[in-house]
Amino acid sequence: MEVKFNVRRFDPESTNNVPHFQEYQLEMDSSATVLDALIDIRENMDGTLSLRCSCRSAICGSCAMKINGEAGLACNTKIIDVQKKDGSEITIEPAGNLPVVKDLVVDFQPFWSKVKSVDPWLRPDGEEPETEYLAPDDDMLHLANVVSCILCGACVSDCTVLEVDDDFLGPAALAKSYRFVRDPRDDADETRLQQLNEPGGVWDCTRCMKCVEVCPKGVDPMGRIMNLRDRVMEAGYNNTNGARHANAFTDSVKHSGWLDELRLPIKSFGIFNIKAMISLIPTGVRAQLKGKRPPIFHKSIPGAENVRKIFEKVETRK
Ligand code: FES
Repeated sequence: MEVKFNVRRFDPESTNNVPHFQEYQLEMDSSATVLDALIDIRENMDGTLSLRCSCRSAICGSCAMKINGEAGLACNTKIIDVQKKDGSEITIEPAGNLPVVKDLVVDFQPFWSKVKSVDPWLRPDGEEPETEYLAPDDDMLHLANVVSCILCGACVSDCTVLEVDDDFLGPAALAKSYRFVRDPRDDADETRLQQLNEPGGVWDCTRCMKCVEVCPKGVDPMGRIMNLRDRVMEAGYNNTNGARHANAFTDSVKHSGWLDELRLPIKSFGIFNIKAMISLIPTGVRAQLKGKRPPIFHKSIPGAENVRKIFEKVETRK
């Protein structure tokens, strides 16, 4: 089958060192993957094209890139699955949110330094066992999906927070942190959770779901971040904007059946946080002018008692 690729090129050492797209057209087998095609291009059409790959089996994580605008493993993506019906070209770009070294190769240094910053190793206390540290099967089964992370960076590539905030630890590092927080052999929870409660930690995720959608291994980084939020709050770290926001959100829905958007930011920042209160004024004015100011008197919706019952049921199950 005939396939057209539109590949983003960038060579910092070339005279034409402005990122641009280059088209390639080639014949591929219908079972071929995107990586097969890129290797074919590099070997038979254009030896200057740079890309990373190793295992070709979705194990090493080195071939993560954007395929038609969404992160994925090139070796795990069949051309036939991403080719549009109109036969238009498949767009290939380097993974996002990381500096591009050349063409499809990105610099993973920022990625690794964030992963390293969460101490991705067991930190047990007490006496060393004579044989090995043992963990119950159920705990390890629970961690099975997180442990299967291959650190390909797909989640980081498409994280919408990292697009605007370099300080965010990001989905890969946070999921890795969860793996150790949840491991019964680890005794450093307090230090870990304290770090995760800081700016750039668990509260900066906006729950856009992109990391969940693009993860090729079902790690569910966003779900892990939400679990970490619970852990952080259970550990008593309730005095942050994020924790207050989560509590105010829950209280509002539990009480009235819907969200009190007027009081949510006030309760999240804290009424005595004068600076934050003043910063909210322009948003309030804009909302008022557009007719989108939430009601001052927040009334319960019909059937709010049923919502309360759901909360009670879930709370007694804990
Ligand atoms: Fe190893 Fe794609 S080449 S994951």
